[in-house]
Amino acid sequence: MSNDITILFLHGFPFNRSMWHGVVARLEGRVAARLIAGNLRGFDGRPIASPVTTMDDFADDIEPVDPRRLIVCGLSMGGYVALTLAARYSDNLAGLILCDTKVTADPPDVAASRQTLADELIRGEKTLADVAASMLPRLLSPATGDELAHEVAAVITSHDVSGIAAAARGMAVRHDSTSLLPKLKVPTLVVCGEDDAISPPDEMHAWANLIPNATFQTIPHAGHISPWEQPELVADAIADFVGQKIVTARG
Ligand code: MLT
Repeated sequence: MSNDITILFLHGFPFNRSMWHGVVARLEGRVAARLIAGNLRGFDGRPIASPVTTMDDFADDIEPVDPRRLIVCGLSMGGYVALTLAARYSDNLAGLILCDTKVTADPPDVAASRQTLADELIRGEKTLADVAASMLPRLLSPATGDELAHEVAAVITSHDVSGIAAAARGMAVRHDSTSLLPKLKVPTLVVCGEDDAISPPDEMHAWANLIPNATFQTIPHAGHISPWEQPELVADAIADFVGQKIVTARG
């Protein structure tokens, strides 16, 4: 494989690039690709001015020099951004990896609760510690230890509320990507923690089947943040995908 391929790792909400460190460390020297995990806009601890960051705004911040040499790998909200990039660059991406994510838009009640959360955060009626406390029970597999739970909470509370509120509002208005799936010809890997309560394996497997060139893989002993919970297994899945699909497809 040509070593000018880049794999770009996009984190979920409300995390940051550190969620990918374990996977990236295990892929270094194993795949002939540059590995980049960045913080999305508003997820670096500094305040942002805009009240809404849409998935298109996040995608606008990523300007690939050559999409044909780019594999985009996104978890959950990062997956929404990856799908936005896949729609933009169509079959020109080298590969697409979707972890623990959804392809549908928010139902009205979920969209409304995101707007409420954003308003409460900005008004100071809710803190990021409250967000961590309400999210953590649904994020992790029962097999995941307390140490990771503390790490995740520390990342969530490291942010400025403005970035988190803006991303919550942006997710609430994101588009449904279901109709895009049958049109995707890019080699795609879909990864799901077997205990993912937010984007469950059955649901993910059903939409992965709509993508013509997709491989679906579950990750044992992992919940909604499978790359953070089981970095070894997710790195194995990515290394296999890059070795088999990208070499075969692109030479
Ligand atoms: C994530 O992990 O990014 C979130 O579950 C996304 C969402 O709230 O839809």
